[in-house]
Amino acid sequence: MSKKMLWLTSLLVILALTLAACGGAATEEAAEPAVEDAATTNEGEAAQPTEAAPAEGEAATGENQLEFYSWWTAGGEADGLNAMYEVFKQKYPDIEIVNATVAGGAGSNAKAVLATRMQAGDPPDSFQVHAGHELIDTWVVADKMEPVTFLFDENGWRDVYPQGVIDILSYNGDIWSVPVNIHRSNVMWYNPAIFEANGVTAPTTFDEFFTVADTLKAAGVTPLALGDNGIWASTHLFESVLLGTLGPEGYRGLWTGETDWNSAEVTTALETFARMLDYVNEDHAALTWDQAAQLVADGDAAMTIMGDWANGYFTSIDLAPGEGYGYAPSPGTDGVFMMLSDTFSLPKGAPHRDNAIKWLTLAGSKEGQDAFNPLKGSISPRSDSDRSLYDAYLQSAMDAFASNEITPSLAHGAAASEGWVTAFNDVMTLFVTNKDVAAAQAGMAQACVDAGVCGQ
Ligand code: GAL
Repeated sequence: MSKKMLWLTSLLVILALTLAACGGAATEEAAEPAVEDAATTNEGEAAQPTEAAPAEGEAATGENQLEFYSWWTAGGEADGLNAMYEVFKQKYPDIEIVNATVAGGAGSNAKAVLATRMQAGDPPDSFQVHAGHELIDTWVVADKMEPVTFLFDENGWRDVYPQGVIDILSYNGDIWSVPVNIHRSNVMWYNPAIFEANGVTAPTTFDEFFTVADTLKAAGVTPLALGDNGIWASTHLFESVLLGTLGPEGYRGLWTGETDWNSAEVTTALETFARMLDYVNEDHAALTWDQAAQLVADGDAAMTIMGDWANGYFTSIDLAPGEGYGYAPSPGTDGVFMMLSDTFSLPKGAPHRDNAIKWLTLAGSKEGQDAFNPLKGSISPRSDSDRSLYDAYLQSAMDAFASNEITPSLAHGAAASEGWVTAFNDVMTLFVTNKDVAAAQAGMAQACVDAGVCGQ
C-alpha cells in the first residue's frame, strides 16, 4: 500500500471509530480589511477595530450580503482571506461582504461564539471549520449543515481533490464542506541570524533541541517562543512532542484507542514537554501565537513551534523564507506531515444561501485557492494549483505533503472530536502550570475514555 493510501486509511479509521463512539491581538493586526468588518472582541485577544460594525445579530440581515465567519485576524491569515474576498468582489460587485471575525488563534474564542449563534438559529452564510472530527462530530452529526456534494459534482472537484481529503469531509455518502487549504502543524521556525551567531543548527531530535537550547540560554537568548494565552498553543506544541516521541503509528493510535495513554512513551513525551517549558519566554501566557512568532522575527527568541500560518505571518511582515526566518520539521518528526485543513461550510438556514454557494464555488476553485493560500501560509489541496505562485517554504510543504507520512492534528480538529480536544486543553492548562506528569497522563487517559475511544 502506498503511503498516501496508508494515511487515507488511517484517517478513515480514525473517523469511523470516533463516529461509532459518538453513536451516539494585539499583533493580530491584519492588513486593512477589504470589506465591512463585523469583528467581535473577545477576552484575551483583541479583535480588529471595526468600521461601522453592525450590532450582533444584524450582520446578515441585509438584502444582498454574504456573511463569512472566521477567526482570521492575524497577519497572513487575514491577508489570505482578503485576497479571496477581492476575487469575489470582482465577480460579484453587488454582493456586500460582511467579514465576521472573532479573534483568537485556532478558533479559541470564535468556536464558542459560533456555537451560541447556531443554537440560536442565527447562522452566518458560511463559516470556517476544520476538516475531520470538528466538522463531522460537531456540526454534521448534529444536523446543522447542508451537504455540498453537488458542488463537487458540478465543478468536477472529485477529480482534483485528494480522496483522503474528501474522505474526512464525508459522512453518510455526502460531502459536507469545501476544503480551502492544507496546513502543516509540526514546523519549527527559527531565527537564522541567532543560530549563526551561536554556532547552532536546527535540532532534529529532542536531545539536540536541549543541547541547542542550553547553548542559547547560556548566551542570554530565549530558546523557544510560546504564545499560549489561548491554551491551544500549548496543546499544539505538545502534539508535536507526542509525534516526535511516539512516531506516526504510535501517535495515530492515540486517537483510535490502539496506543495506550498510560504508556511509558506518553510519560516521556510529557516529561520532554515539561522540560521544554524551562526554555520558553516568561510571558508566554500573555502572548498570542503571532506575538510569539514576532519574538523570533525580532531576535528576541530563537525558535517557535507553530503551524505554517506562521509562514503567512512572517511573509506579511516582509520576511523571506530561508533569509528572515528558517524552518525545519519539529524535533523527531522529519518525514511526517501533521496535517489539518480549513474548510468553508454551508450551514442549514444560511440567510443568503445563493451568495454562500457563489462563495463556496470560488473558495473551491483554483483561482480562489491560488489567491488565498500563498498569503495564508498553506498549500492548496487541489492537484492543479500553480506551484510557481508559492514561496520556497510552501513548495517544500507541497513536496512533504506528497511524500511524507500524514498524521492528523489534535489541536486543529482533525484527530479528535471537539469535546475531546476541550478536555485535553483543560489538562494542558493545569500541566503548563504545575508540570505534574502523572496527573496530566491520568487526565489524558481519562479524556480518551470519556470520548468513548478508550476502554475503561
Ligand atoms: C488554525 C487554523 C489556521 C490558523 C490558525 C491560527 O486552527 O486552521 O488556519 O488560522 O488556527 O489562527
